[in-house]
Amino acid sequence: MNTAADRNEAALTTQQTLAGQTVVVVGGKTGIGMGVARVARAAGAKVVVASRRVAPLVERSDLAEFAQVSLDMRDESAVQQVFEEIGALDHLVVTAAPDLGTWGSFMDADMHGVRNYLEGKFLGSWACARHAAPHLRAGGSITFLTGGMAVRPKLGFTAVTSAFAAVEALSGSLALELAPIRINTIRPGFVDTDMWGFLPPEHRDDLRKKVEDTFPARRAGKAEDIGHAALFLMTNSYVTGTVLEVSGGETLVPSVS
Ligand SMILES: NC(=O)c1ccc[n+]([C@@H]2O[C@H](COP(=O)([O-])OP(=O)(O)OC[C@H]3O[C@@H](n4cnc5c(N)ncnc54)[C@H](OP(=O)(O)O)[C@@H]3O)[C@@H](O)[C@H]2O)c1
Repeated sequence: MNTAADRNEAALTTQQTLAGQTVVVVGGKTGIGMGVARVARAAGAKVVVASRRVAPLVERSDLAEFAQVSLDMRDESAVQQVFEEIGALDHLVVTAAPDLGTWGSFMDADMHGVRNYLEGKFLGSWACARHAAPHLRAGGSITFLTGGMAVRPKLGFTAVTSAFAAVEALSGSLALELAPIRINTIRPGFVDTDMWGFLPPEHRDDLRKKVEDTFPARRAGKAEDIGHAALFLMTNSYVTGTVLEVSGGETLVPSVS
């Protein structure tokens, strides 16, 4: 039989409010990060969005509900300073990543692009976690972001697969090392953000159509779909050390891109 204490416990573990809490989203001014920032704000959090550019509100009025911070996550001392300035926080979400870049095949002589990608995605995620952790309040969490390439390599993207796999390994390891801080990773599938802006419009439309036709969810992912998953990970106090795929079923069907 359920006691009143059980019912209170159920209410507590299922509540999806972030009222009175501070959420920092590194990468939160665009794309998936902005979806996370919007959902966290709607759940009542004070949200700080951090990335290299600080956009004037006359150009980006959609950022008015967030505090903006300038941060290059490849610069460890800047990361440390930013988290010292922000002070106490409840949840960190790191969605930022370098542009996909043009490093070419594995056998290319120049490893500059590869180093840049790993420096940004992997060591950047590492540095953010490292310097945010001392400021996290009790009950706090850290969420990283990877992508389907973590488990489904694609020709020409060895650096991305390697960086994503490394971030997922980091996530599991930190769930042990930083406990009881909870550490999780979201592995999204196709999400229709400006990250795809490098494609000519007709190619982007084709890609979206293929996703709608073939993914079991029969639609393209939205940034808020990932925000919804991040809210779950921030608010469910029993989830740690997990990789949550939010992909519309992408990995069940042949690759579309
Ligand atoms: N969209 C998809 O379909 C999809 C699917 C699976 C996985 N992913 C992965 O999800 C991540 C984000 O995707 P997205 O669609 O949100 O892309 P996005 O809109 O291009 O966002 C990337 C963000 O990272 C920030 N950033 C880049 N370098 C940074 C640095 N050194 N320090 C701090 N911030 C930095 C950028 O802001 P600034 O330029 O201001 O620094 C930007 O806000 C990527 O890892 C991507 O591979 C995306």
